[in-house]
Amino acid sequence: MNDKQVVAIHAANYVKNGMLVGLGTGSTANYFIEELARRQLEENLNVTTIASSTVSMIKAQSLGLNVIALNQVSEIDLYVDGADEITPDMTLLKGRGYDLVLEKLLAKAAKQFLVVADKSKLVERIGTNFVIPIEVMPMAWKTAKRSLEAIGGVGDLRQNVAKDGLTVTSHGSLVLDMSFDKSISEAQLNQLINNTPGVVEHGIFCGLASGILIAENGNVTEEYWK
Ligand code: 5RP
Repeated sequence: MNDKQVVAIHAANYVKNGMLVGLGTGSTANYFIEELARRQLEENLNVTTIASSTVSMIKAQSLGLNVIALNQVSEIDLYVDGADEITPDMTLLKGRGYDLVLEKLLAKAAKQFLVVADKSKLVERIGTNFVIPIEVMPMAWKTAKRSLEAIGGVGDLRQNVAKDGLTVTSHGSLVLDMSFDKSISEAQLNQLINNTPGVVEHGIFCGLASGILIAENGNVTEEYWK
């Protein structure tokens, strides 16, 4: 069993009967979905889920989990998702995929948001290993890019995997992958990007995580907790 699977299985123990559970997106979140489905089948766990992406919704449904739509609820009990980077103050970088918008909505709507990852995701500051994905309205990408450059951002539109077109997210946005000067704090950057017209959502998750579960060599620790 790899560390992503170990930590995902550990996190599934936080799910109690009757909970409404948010399902993340990515390889670690996939293991969590599988474990939840197993617990439903083998332990009679009664659970309702809400997915942060179409791909997670399809996976959950294929395993027999009951998935409802976001517009049916205003609050969820628990959200479990991975991250690309995690700092000691529990700021996250997410969104290597295309599902930032729903991921942040679920993170905000959750009474408890647990982040599951292997040790490789721990960093001192956001932007260490990845650029910051910023979803922008297609018609506003140039003006948004200019505004982001004015606060020190450097980067460009994300290409698709085949490099013959642009990445378009689940919500029809384009993605500006930007890096910023390290003198700007994550909290400041979060605020500045939030205040940029044309930005739909971005990958810095500030003040949303309740706890970070990290697996290393098969052991899970509650690395940071609130
Ligand atoms: C997708 C995400 C993922 O949670 C993040 O990329 C981590 O993925 P993985 O569990 O595959 O390492 O934010 O938008």
